[in-house]
Amino acid sequence: MSTPAPTLLVTGASGQLGSAVVRHLLDTLKFPAERIIVTSRSPEGLADLAARGVTVRAADFDQPGSLVAAFAGADRLLLVSTDALMEPGKRLTQHRAAVQAAVDAGVKHVVYTSLPSADTSHVSFAPDHWGTEQALSASSLGWTVLRNAWYFENLAYSLPGALASGEWATAAGEGRIAYIARDDLARAAAVALASGNATNRILTLTGERAWSARDIAARVSALTGKPLAVVDITPEQLVEGLKAHGFPPVLADVFASFDAATAAGDLGAVTDDYAQLTGQTPTALDVWLPANVELLTKAH
Ligand SMILES: NC(=O)c1ccc[n+]([C@@H]2O[C@H](COP(=O)([O-])OP(=O)(O)OC[C@H]3O[C@@H](n4cnc5c(N)ncnc54)[C@H](OP(=O)(O)O)[C@@H]3O)[C@@H](O)[C@H]2O)c1
Repeated sequence: MSTPAPTLLVTGASGQLGSAVVRHLLDTLKFPAERIIVTSRSPEGLADLAARGVTVRAADFDQPGSLVAAFAGADRLLLVSTDALMEPGKRLTQHRAAVQAAVDAGVKHVVYTSLPSADTSHVSFAPDHWGTEQALSASSLGWTVLRNAWYFENLAYSLPGALASGEWATAAGEGRIAYIARDDLARAAAVALASGNATNRILTLTGERAWSARDIAARVSALTGKPLAVVDITPEQLVEGLKAHGFPPVLADVFASFDAATAAGDLGAVTDDYAQLTGQTPTALDVWLPANVELLTKAH
């Protein structure tokens, strides 16, 4: 007699990563919809999943009291890290509440979306991720930590403005980033969740190469036919520039810390964990860029 499939739960199912994870579970991995629970702060937006037989529930990590019921019945849970960056420390409180609720709800294994070198990274919010990894490791849960490299899609924050002015100001110097497509990370999370693997492990999911701003600028310039010069500035100049463009100081510090982390090499390590986990090759920059020129040229 075969063992029944575990029941999987994906938090943050309205988000860009969470929604893609659910799509991969259903359409790529053909995981049975009746064995999938999704949670969101906006469950009303997930009627299409409910129509496919997925169980849709409300869950907000800011309301810890409601989480045990939201997680009830799940064997394996994907905890998608939240985007609460404006209030330092808030995100770790949210994640700790979710971890405790998973324990109390009888979840066996949690998969968590972290960032590379969570313990040592210069990214300003790395302590949120490292703290969550520590909460998982101190709990009775089994866990898989997915240290997700930077999305290619993050280029859409800087490149449209840079292309418009012809100058890409960066404090990352010659530092490199091992970018990977967000959809590849969603596929990896779906595989990690559905695999049934019960080993506690940390996987660093990256592309096959790491790229400097000058590498990217040369390619984007060739693709668009627009000149794009990389201009080196200090982290302090970057913070001032972002604030002058209307960024709140907290966010300006966050973005400047990305460049500091890149310069320090925190985001540049390349691993083959993605291929080991999924059996697939991650999408290459030279495939992703031409397919996403519109994303990089339009203001967002
Ligand atoms: N590696 C990278 O380059 C990179 C880039 C951007 C973000 N990230 C991280 O990866 C996560 C997923 O990325 P994304 O592209 O899907 O970002 P996104 O579309 O902005 O999604 C934000 C996610 O946070 C969830 N969330 C926010 N507040 C919450 C709360 N109080 N309780 C429960 N869930 C909450 C949202 O769930 P609902 O809306 O469904 O409630 C949603 O899944 C982000 O939240 C961030 O931590 C990584």
